Amino acid sequence: VTDWPCQVVRTPAGWRDSAVWIGADLLADPPPEVLHWLAGRRAFVVSSQPVRRLHGARMAALEAAAGSVEWLDVPDGEAAKDLATVGRLWNALLAAGGKRDSLVVAFGGGSVGDVTGFAAGAFLRGIEFLQVPTTLLAQVDASVGGKTGIDLPAGKNTVGLFHPPAHVLADTSLLTTLPRAELRSGLVEVVKMAAVLDGELLTRCERDLGSLLAGDVATLTPVVESAVAAKVRVVGEDPTETTGRRRVLNLGHTLGHAIETVLEYGHLRHGEAVAYGLLFAIRLAQRLRLIEDDVGERLRRLLGRFELPVLPVDRLPVAALLAAMARDKKASQRGLVWVLPRRVGEDRQEPVPAELVREELEPFLADPWADAA
Ligand SMILES: NC(=O)c1ccc[n+]([C@@H]2O[C@H](COP(=O)([O-])OP(=O)(O)OC[C@H]3O[C@@H](n4cnc5c(N)ncnc54)[C@H](O)[C@@H]3O)[C@@H](O)[C@H]2O)c1
Ligand SMILES: [Zn+2]
Repeated sequence: VTDWPCQVVRTPAGWRDSAVWIGADLLADPPPEVLHWLAGRRAFVVSSQPVRRLHGARMAALEAAAGSVEWLDVPDGEAAKDLATVGRLWNALLAAGGKRDSLVVAFGGGSVGDVTGFAAGAFLRGIEFLQVPTTLLAQVDASVGGKTGIDLPAGKNTVGLFHPPAHVLADTSLLTTLPRAELRSGLVEVVKMAAVLDGELLTRCERDLGSLLAGDVATLTPVVESAVAAKVRVVGEDPTETTGRRRVLNLGHTLGHAIETVLEYGHLRHGEAVAYGLLFAIRLAQRLRLIEDDVGERLRRLLGRFELPVLPVDRLPVAALLAAMARDKKASQRGLVWVLPRRVGEDRQEPVPAELVREELEPFLADPWADAA
């Protein structure tokens, strides 16, 4: 039995804490606490075909611990996050005799995690669930912090619940089969957190970027641990996004989401759009004289090594981007508060007038890598 590192997301009284376990080959030798939690219970494993085909066999130790196991299929990728899928899951759970003490396991990327968590959170007013994230993005970001949800035709992540998983099992050896572009997308979220929360993690990303992008488990594991630690700290301070602290995780997402919306979720992966959002946040922070000179340069140099797909600027009119940002889920009555990088390990949250954003967007789209004037 291995002593796996565990980080606990503490939630206010009345909520459920989440234990996040991280390690290479963790699923082959799951923590006794998790086996005990599963023992004798009816478990439903929700996954998509490609993930199950690649890695389903690795779930054997968990399956053996549960009382009984049934696998439920959802569509692969973002397509899983719709109302029809949730309806099918609820009906399947009921038909198979799902009870209040049944539990659900999300086995897949962030899409499977989001839809499964939402289904679990509302089924019989909420049953427990376990996250087994299989992408880098899901291990460092989506599986931690209790946000679950689905998309409506009119907007991504527009319906959801805070429903923290009882446990998260992040087995980093699953990441060896991830395509480079998926690793890149997850690493952007790591850089986002490192930039404003953990200077040492930033240095590590700079040092190890080549091996990280190549899916090397030995270099990925400590990076997942540090990124999760950063997210756990922030989420613990603001579990339901009420104090504003959690907003720091939104760095790069204001423009990133707008780019995704205007491109109708084609062309760029989420992390790639966020990388451009981060570049724009650097630019705004420079314009407002908030960022230390070398920090912007350092982040740009790092993101430059990601070999991002080129921004399809002919499909990104400034007016459309501004309109999308004005409709941002996180916009308040007073307008948009931007998360901006200040110095390494520190952010600054600042309402920025739409006029100034417009002024910077034009030159940014012409050259996303340039300094603000
Ligand atoms: N709840 C949150 O806090 C939160 C945070 C960030 C993102 N998200 C959500 O996460 C979703 C994106 O998640 P994602 O980036 O993990 O993408 P994803 O879940 O859509 O998966 C992307 C692809 O990776 C494949 N895949 C999964 N694991 C694999 C593996 N080990 N090897 C090879 N291929 C594998 C899948 O089959 C899929 O085709 C979005 O819907 C986003 O909104 C949620
Ligand atoms: Zn993100």
